[in-house]
Amino acid sequence: MEKFTLNNGIDKPVIGLGTYPMKGNILIETMEKAIELGYSSFDTATAYKNHEEIGEVINNSIVAREEVFITTKLSNIHQKHENIEEVLKRSLSILGLKYVDMYLIHWPVPDYFLKSWVELEQLYKKGLVRSIGVCNFHEHHLRDLIEIANILPAINQIELHPLLTQKPLIKFCSKYGIKIEAYSPLARMHNYIQNSDILKELADRYQKSIPQIILRWNYQNGVISIPKTQSHHRLSENISIYDFHLSNEEMISIDDINMNFRVRHDPDNCDFDKL
Ligand SMILES: NC(=O)c1ccc[n+]([C@@H]2O[C@H](COP(=O)([O-])OP(=O)(O)OC[C@H]3O[C@@H](n4cnc5c(N)ncnc54)[C@H](OP(=O)(O)O)[C@@H]3O)[C@@H](O)[C@H]2O)c1
Repeated sequence: MEKFTLNNGIDKPVIGLGTYPMKGNILIETMEKAIELGYSSFDTATAYKNHEEIGEVINNSIVAREEVFITTKLSNIHQKHENIEEVLKRSLSILGLKYVDMYLIHWPVPDYFLKSWVELEQLYKKGLVRSIGVCNFHEHHLRDLIEIANILPAINQIELHPLLTQKPLIKFCSKYGIKIEAYSPLARMHNYIQNSDILKELADRYQKSIPQIILRWNYQNGVISIPKTQSHHRLSENISIYDFHLSNEEMISIDDINMNFRVRHDPDNCDFDKL
């Protein structure tokens, strides 16, 4: 599995497994298969309520802990009402792990996210997390954060796919060395993706699937992807993206699909209490 280096010098695999909404045996079997196939990065969150299964797989695996990259997230409710170090320690206890590799603020909860960031910096300094970052931050959230931060986020995990290419935000983050990680990278295989003539044509040209074309496009753009699948066949498909190359024109043709269409919430227009 190829890796990208983050702004604090640690490496993160180009493809990770998104685990929402998997739980229970489905998640355990999917993760075991993923590890067998070469996955080492797993994306979870307190809100997904699947830490126990994830910890069980990691702790029972023959793969060393240092070889695995675990990302989890601070929930909105916890930003508002709790001591964040205690929240993280509870997550670590359920995971059965001494540290996580990435701790992200799940959403930029107004009035709280700057305070949360200061607390995440402390967790990083104490070594409870190997890196810290954010999710769902627009440029204006990041500008506010940069004003008060001593440490810049290693990652901004955002909704990103050919229907929502996020070019201005990618440019802004790259200026500050903040790596972009694409969630819902396949736009949950929305009909607009499945029926896209451009994606179908590229898939035919390279004898690849549409998801492989999209994940390759992200890779060539320097973007990490965390597709979710519980199909063993698709787990393998989603990491088989290194044996072809999209030309500049082909990359631009995918960029041009953009229609600023979201399959998830807009961080400026959502009910943070329900997320
Ligand atoms: N930070 C945040 O706020 C946030 C928000 C949303 C998601 N996330 C993270 O991002 C991860 C992925 O996002 P997502 O689940 O919303 O969307 P996604 O990865 O774009 O799409 C998942 C869907 O695509 C299907 N799929 C996956 N690979 C496929 C393939 N090769 N061919 C055909 N279908 C395929 C899956 O079905 P099968 O399982 O049946 O294959 C599933 O229905 C989540 O699991 C979560 O970890 C983070």
